[in-house]
Amino acid sequence: MNRRYRKTIIAGNWKMNNTLSQTKAFAEEIKPIMPKGKWCNVVLCVPATNIQAAVRLFKDCHIAIGAETCHELDHGAYTGEITAAMIKEAGAKYVIIGHSERRQYYNETDFTVNKKVHAAIETGLIPIICVGESLEQRELGVTMELIAYQVKCALANVAPENARHVVIAYEPLWAIGTGKTATAEQAGEVCQAIRTVIRKQYGAHVARSVTIQYGGSMNAKNAEELLAQPDVDGGLIGGAALKPADFVKIIEAANQE
Ligand code: PGA
Repeated sequence: MNRRYRKTIIAGNWKMNNTLSQTKAFAEEIKPIMPKGKWCNVVLCVPATNIQAAVRLFKDCHIAIGAETCHELDHGAYTGEITAAMIKEAGAKYVIIGHSERRQYYNETDFTVNKKVHAAIETGLIPIICVGESLEQRELGVTMELIAYQVKCALANVAPENARHVVIAYEPLWAIGTGKTATAEQAGEVCQAIRTVIRKQYGAHVARSVTIQYGGSMNAKNAEELLAQPDVDGGLIGGAALKPADFVKIIEAANQE
C-alpha cells in the first residue's frame, strides 16, 4: 500500500450469492463491527438485483456498492444484460470488469473487456479490471507478458485523466476460490509489473495514482502480509467477503499504519 499517492480499496465480490434478505442480514451483522477511523475505501460488489437496496443498507457504514459486470453497449436487444447506466442509476459507484469467471464462462475477451471499460468510464462508474494468469501460463513462464497484454488491451484508448481513476485487480486464476493464495512476493511482483506497464503508457504520475488490488483466496490471515507489498493497494475478495467478521478483519489489516 502507499496511501500517499493512491487509495487503498478493499472490495468484496459476492458473485452469485446472497438474496435481498441475506443482504439485509449481512448489513445488520457488519454495522456494529465496522472499523471506525478508516484509511481504506470499502466496496461490496453485489448481484444486480441487490444494488439499489445495498446502496441504502450500507450507506451508514460507508461501504460503496459495485456491480459484478455490465454490457458494453448502452441499450439494445440483449436479453438478460444490464448497461452501465442502469447500474449507475441504481446507485452503484464501481463495476467489476473481465473477472476470470466472466472470461471463462461467458466468453469475455480482452477486446470486450476494453469496450466495457469504456462503457463504465463514460457512464461515470469506476471499473475494477481483472487480469490474471492460469497455472499453465505461470508454469510456462509467460505471466508477465500475458498480464502486460491484458492490461494494455483493457486500457486501449483510455485517456490519461481517466486511466488514473481505474482499479486493476491482479487475480491469478489458480488462486481464485482454491484456498491457494499467491505468496506476498508473487503478488507484489506482478502488481509492480502492472504499474510499470501503466507508467510506460501514461507516465509516472498516472502510474502512481492507480489502485492495484490482489485477489485470490485473500483472507483474514494472509491479508496483512499481502497488503504490506508496496504495489498491492487492496484486495478483491470473494469467499471471505461473504462473512462479515472475516471481511472486517481484512478491512482492519488495510487500516493499519
Ligand atoms: P476468492 O475470489 O477470494 O474466493 O478466491 C476472489 C475473486 O474471484 O474475486
